Amino acid sequence: MDKIVVEGGKRLTGTVAISGAKNAALPILVSALLTDGVCTFTNVPDLQDIRSILLLLESLGARVVADGHTIKIDAATLAASEAPYDLVRKMRASILVLCPLVARLGHARVSLPGGCAIGARPINLHLKGLERLGATIDIRHGYVEARAHRLKGADIYFDTVTVTGTENIMMAAALADGVTVLRNAAREPEVVALAEVLMGMGADIQGAGTSVVTINGVEELRPTTFEIIPDRIEAGTFMAAAALTGGDVTLTHCQPDHLSAVSDKLQQAGVVIRSQGTSLRVTADKAIASVDVRTQTYPGFPTDMQAQFMVLMSCAEGQSIIKETIFENRFIHVSELRRLGADITISGDTAVVRGVKALFGAPVMASDLRASASLVLAGLVAEGLTEINRVYHIDRGYEQIEEKMRQIGAAIWREKAS
Ligand code: EPZ
Repeated sequence: MDKIVVEGGKRLTGTVAISGAKNAALPILVSALLTDGVCTFTNVPDLQDIRSILLLLESLGARVVADGHTIKIDAATLAASEAPYDLVRKMRASILVLCPLVARLGHARVSLPGGCAIGARPINLHLKGLERLGATIDIRHGYVEARAHRLKGADIYFDTVTVTGTENIMMAAALADGVTVLRNAAREPEVVALAEVLMGMGADIQGAGTSVVTINGVEELRPTTFEIIPDRIEAGTFMAAAALTGGDVTLTHCQPDHLSAVSDKLQQAGVVIRSQGTSLRVTADKAIASVDVRTQTYPGFPTDMQAQFMVLMSCAEGQSIIKETIFENRFIHVSELRRLGADITISGDTAVVRGVKALFGAPVMASDLRASASLVLAGLVAEGLTEINRVYHIDRGYEQIEEKMRQIGAAIWREKAS
């Protein structure tokens, strides 16, 4: 397995382009299953998770043509409605094929996605929503089997805000008979982007981006084209990198208004942020102050930025309290950061981070996508070399992270693990 090596101490300056959003592209690529023609998506990031979902779509009978960041998907002749364990276990977002398959074919058999490093991550709300739409659900031998002759619109309340749950049910409701109202729906930009794609296909959706979404089902959906929105978490990760190294970095091809909570916290910490159109300039020319953060659903501070922000707070002046309210086990990066010299104490869902004068490079182990990114960030400022092992976690969600970091002055390279 490859590893990434970082030599700390370089100040990051210059310009870096942000890629398309993984968490927008995944549901949007799957939405092609709802149509019987060729959908074209541009600005699709070149990531392991994207390659995994395209393999799954092909296994269902869709024809996929990938040309750089442009993906064409023809789902005219679907030949299967099963998502096998060996594909789903690699990428839990595969559960997103469940509802489109039931809506299009009347049947789906999808392996239950197991838990993952950051939590149990059940899919009960996906299944409850699909049942409310009239599907019969059986769970046997580690698989979910769902059937419905024609889904019927329903009033659905999500006990917990769920991003892919909202996306899954929205796709099913688009082809249901009648009106569906989703209450306590996720408001993330990625949900809004999916709604825009569905509307481009002819769906009738009101309220996407608010907590009440109304979908008036239609008979069929037609192919569409769409440009994937920028990745706000990749952007936030590079903003944290600039802040950590006292740098001056301009991000291009991003959407600043998707980053308000992250920008606000960085500004509170003393970072200067200037946005202009699709560019964001991040300048850190004074000491970083400690700031408290609690992760929340959008538009609050994103859980996917918690680990990255914790690294920044580890190098700040003072003490900060970081509360993780979305996932029950999203502090795995803490033990690795401690190995680099961070001073972090955990109590339940709360981490107390005391800023230290310096971090010191060491070999560390990546555990999940965003934890891995936080270890790269720590390596940027740790004295000496930091080696991040199991770097496949990073390749799932960051396109060419070392090339992009090198472009703005980082000393970072990939080594084949011996
Ligand atoms: C999406 O995951 C993202 N993934 C995650 O990004 C992100 O961390 C998460 O939303 C929260 O913003 C994609 O979009 C592909 P949830 P998702 O359903 O949809 C509980 C990354 O690093 N829940 O919003 O799986 C769940 O356990 C990844 O890019 C249920 O209880 O997250 C969690 O506590 C990591 N039952 C909370 O809701 C359900 O049926 C939020 O989960 C569904 C969820």
